[in-house]
Amino acid sequence: MPPKTIERDRLGAVGLDNGLTNYGDTEFARYLRRSFAKSMGYSNESLAKPVVGICYTASGFNNCHRHFPELLAAVERGVLAKGALPITFPMISLGEAFLSPTSMVYRNLMAMAVEEMIRAQPMDSVVLMGGCDKTVPALLMGAASAGKPAALALAGPMVAGRHRGERVSACTDCRRFWARFRAGEISTHEIGVIEGRLAASAGTCSVMGTASSMAMISETIGMAVPGSATVPAVHSDRLRISEATGVLAADMAISGGPTPDQIITKESVENALRVLLAVSGSTNAIIHLTAVAGRLGIEVSLDRLNELSDETPVLVDLKPVGSGYMEDLHAGGGLRGVLAEISEKLFLECKNLEGTTLSDRIADAPLDPVDRNVIRKANCPVNPVGGLIALRGSLAPDGAILKRAAATEELLEHEGRAVVFSSLDDLAAKIDDPRLEIEPDDIMVLQNAGPRSESGMPEAGYFPIPKKLAKQGVTDMIRISDARMSGTAFGTVVLHVTPEADLGGPLALVRNGDKIRLSANSKRIDLLVDGDELRERRACYRAERSCPKRGYANLYYRSVLPAPQGCDFDFLVES
Ligand code: FES
Repeated sequence: MPPKTIERDRLGAVGLDNGLTNYGDTEFARYLRRSFAKSMGYSNESLAKPVVGICYTASGFNNCHRHFPELLAAVERGVLAKGALPITFPMISLGEAFLSPTSMVYRNLMAMAVEEMIRAQPMDSVVLMGGCDKTVPALLMGAASAGKPAALALAGPMVAGRHRGERVSACTDCRRFWARFRAGEISTHEIGVIEGRLAASAGTCSVMGTASSMAMISETIGMAVPGSATVPAVHSDRLRISEATGVLAADMAISGGPTPDQIITKESVENALRVLLAVSGSTNAIIHLTAVAGRLGIEVSLDRLNELSDETPVLVDLKPVGSGYMEDLHAGGGLRGVLAEISEKLFLECKNLEGTTLSDRIADAPLDPVDRNVIRKANCPVNPVGGLIALRGSLAPDGAILKRAAATEELLEHEGRAVVFSSLDDLAAKIDDPRLEIEPDDIMVLQNAGPRSESGMPEAGYFPIPKKLAKQGVTDMIRISDARMSGTAFGTVVLHVTPEADLGGPLALVRNGDKIRLSANSKRIDLLVDGDELRERRACYRAERSCPKRGYANLYYRSVLPAPQGCDFDFLVES
C-alpha cells in the first residue's frame, strides 16, 4: 500500500500534497493525484520528496533560450542531488523579435501565468528559467506575487561573431550596420551576410541591453546565484551555475525559504538601481525593476533615480555606450568587479538566496585581476555620472527617461523645431519621403506609441534618421516619444514621455514647428508653446484609440499603468 500522506518531517515542504484539487474529499484528491502522478512512472519514494517546480521557457520562437534543454538537465541534476524531486512545467516564452506588436504587451500576461501556475501547482520551491528581455521581469513579477521560494536560472549572454575581422553581436551592431545600409554605405549583399553573423550562439543579446541589465539586476538583488549575470550561455560554467541553482532550489524547498519578499527589499532594489546606472544599462530595466518592486509594495521613484544617477559613475565600457561585450565583462571581473567598485554606495547587509551578504559576495574575490579596460576604477570612470536620468517639464509632467550616456554630447542642451509623426504608421509613411521638411537640428516627435497605444509601447523610440539626412552624414538627432527603445540602441532619445499621447498628455498636442527645449543639466524637457494655445488644442483633442472589445487586449487597455509605475496592471500591484 502506498503511504497515505507524504512525509512532513521537513520544515515547510509538503511536496505533491501542496494545494490539493478540490473535490470535497481531501483523501480522494490525494489518492487521485498520486495515481495520475504514477502514470508518469514516479515511485512512492520519489513522490515522498519535496518538489522543485521548474518554470521552463524554451520555445521554437525564442532563439535566446535554444540551449535550455541542456541547462534544464543541469538544474534537474542539482535538484536530485539534494534529494528533492524536479518537475518541469511549460511557461509562455517571449522571444523579443518574434512577437507582434511587441513583447512588452505580453510581459504582464506571462507574469500572470507565472504567478498563477506557481500558486496552483504542487511545488515547494521553483526554478525560474529565463533570459530574453521580458522573460526575466515576468518571472520575477510572478514569483514575487506567488510568494513561494524561487531562484532564477538565467540563459546567459551570446558570444560575439566576426565580420570582416571585427567582432559583431546582437544587437547594437545590428542597428549600426542597418544605419550604414540606409545611408548607402553597405550593399544589399553585405547586409544579408551580416544578418547571418550577428547572433552567433544561443543566449541573450551580448551587449548591456535589457536582458543583460535584468541579469545584472537579478544577481545584484540576490535572486540568482553569484556569476549568473555574465557567464556566457555556451560556457561550461553556465551549466555548473544551473546545477547550483537546482541545488539551491532544493535546499529552499526543504527549508521553506527564503521567499522573494525577503530578498527583494527596498535596499536591494536600490542596490540594483545603482548597478543599472554604473553599467549604463537599459532604459527598459527601469520599467521592469519598478514593476518587480511594485509587486512587493516598493516604490522606485524617478526623483530618487536622478539622485542616484548624479552620484553613480558609469564604470563599465560595454556597447551600446562603450566598446566591449558581455563576454569581456565576464572575463574582466563580472558583476563582482562592478559591485566592489561602488561598494561604499551599496547596502552591504542585503542577503542573497544563499544567505550570503553583499559584503561577503564582494569579499569573495577570484584569482583573476579585474580588467580595467572593461571595469573602470571609480576615480577613472567612463562617465562621471550615471547613464540614465529622468526628465520632467511641460512636455512630460509625469516624467520621461533619457539615456544620457548613449546621447550626443552637443544635443544634451538643445532647442529645436518639432517635426511631428502622429503614429508609427505616419512615421513609416513620411520618414524617407524626400518631401519631408526636416533639418539636422530639428527635433523629431513620435506620438501615440505609449503603453495604451495600439502598438503597445514598442521599442520604436530609436527611430531612424531620415534617409536624406543620413546620406548627408547626420548620425543623431533628438527623438522624443512615449515609446521605449531597445537597451541595445543609442542616440539622443527621450523615451517613456508621460502622460502618453493616448491619454491626452502634452505630447499629443505638439504640432510641426513648435519649439522644444531639452536640457539634460536641468533634467527638463519643455514644450515652448503658450498656455492659451495649448488649451485651445486640448479642447480639440480626440484620443486615437478606443478600448478593444474582447480578450487580453481589452484587459490590457483597461488595466495597464503608465511607465513610471512599471506598466504593470493596476490590479496586480501591491498597495
Ligand atoms: Fe533575446 Fe535580445 S533577443 S535578449
